[in-house]
Amino acid sequence: MVLVLTGVPPFIAETRHGRELFALQRARTQRNRQGFYLETTLTTESTVKEVKLLGLSRWIIDRYRELHEGFHLEEVALHRRRARWSVGLSLLSSGAFYLAYVAIVRGALTGAITLGAMTLYLMVFRQGQTAMQAALTGLARIYEDNLFMANLFEFLGMPDDEPDAPPVDGTDSERPPEVRFEHVSFRYPGAERDALTDISLTLHPGETVALVGRNGAGKTTLVKLLTGLHRPTSGRILLDGVDLATMPAHAYRARLAVVLQDFARFQFTVAENIGVGWLPARADRASIERSVRDAGAEELVARLPQGLDTPLGRAFGGDDLSVGQWQRVALARAFMRRSGLLVLDEPTAALDAEAEHEVFERLQALKATRTAVLITHRFSTVRMADRIVVVDGGRITEEGPHAALIARGGTYATLFNLQAEGYREMGG
Ligand SMILES: Nc1ncnc2c1ncn2[C@@H]1O[C@H](COP(=O)(O)OP(=O)(O)O)[C@@H](O)[C@H]1O
Ligand SMILES: [Mg+2]
Repeated sequence: MVLVLTGVPPFIAETRHGRELFALQRARTQRNRQGFYLETTLTTESTVKEVKLLGLSRWIIDRYRELHEGFHLEEVALHRRRARWSVGLSLLSSGAFYLAYVAIVRGALTGAITLGAMTLYLMVFRQGQTAMQAALTGLARIYEDNLFMANLFEFLGMPDDEPDAPPVDGTDSERPPEVRFEHVSFRYPGAERDALTDISLTLHPGETVALVGRNGAGKTTLVKLLTGLHRPTSGRILLDGVDLATMPAHAYRARLAVVLQDFARFQFTVAENIGVGWLPARADRASIERSVRDAGAEELVARLPQGLDTPLGRAFGGDDLSVGQWQRVALARAFMRRSGLLVLDEPTAALDAEAEHEVFERLQALKATRTAVLITHRFSTVRMADRIVVVDGGRITEEGPHAALIARGGTYATLFNLQAEGYREMGG
């Protein structure tokens, strides 16, 4: 009887704890995966470039931190409850033991039980003490876990070596800049040849320049230098006369909106995917809706079950989009950015020619307010640019407006006629 009385309470405490722990873990599965996704976003090649360009790392770390602080609080609450129960119940059992102890000794003295039975009972009593100790150890561990968590939060709170929040107010990030390449050459680390050789090029404020060239010509490399993701091996890139190398990365990046060839597909909602284009306004519905219109993504958003609040990407059971639809979202993110320099590296490759044309017509409408560099293989779009720059084997071989390059009869004219013929043959 005494054994049952003293054995049951710790058992109740343990099962109760086990059940709660299970419920807690279960309730967390989704958030655990979110945490894991956020980590991945900061460390995966395909997203980290954009995280840098948009200045998102602080924001992502804060989201991560919030998630884990939530976990921490839940755990503390759980362990507190566990401690309270097990201490309470251990005291109860120990109390029972002490009473039993008195009863046993008295029984032995009066000869009601044998000396052997007394020894056995006393051993059981010892075990009661052990249980008490276990409870105390548990308490100590909670304290220890707390210390480790404090450690983690200290780490997460460490300042960035590269502060990345875009300036919120009073900046002139929207003013279209002049960009000048001066004898820029670039070689990828470990490569045997230069990817770009002696590039000199000036983009005037508000001008739209199309980069044209075969695959591997160096167009994307030029974009990477322009965005500061790589530094020139020699030569300089000047933004309004200031060398990029001397500008703080966040100040420069605030002036720059980029859609990379391998743009990020964030597993967030549509609104967040677009809003992160300009963090200070990420919750501003009017700006997000305007960007959706600019990118021609209204129809796409209207068809989604929860409109702008639809989660994207299969990772969290969201809707997966086609490549073309993702491109519209990426474009909207670029339009969200209040930056005067827009760089589009084949962002419309998966759209049909008509859709691309429509996107670039919108771009023309925004033109006065932006200096733009665009890369596309469609000459129907290229010819809309103010100036066309032909890149071949890492060098600029031709440049000028469409009509002038056609008249010249060089590479551009050849490529243009080839494609025009292709369209005629396809009846397009
Ligand atoms: N990360 C890299 N490391 C080494 N070489 C690269 C890398 N990226 C591109 N290259 C090389 O640089 C050249 C230009 O590539 P890229 O700028 O991507 O051309 P484009 O965008 O015009 O198709 C190619 O010869 C390519 O193989
Ligand atoms: Mg490319």
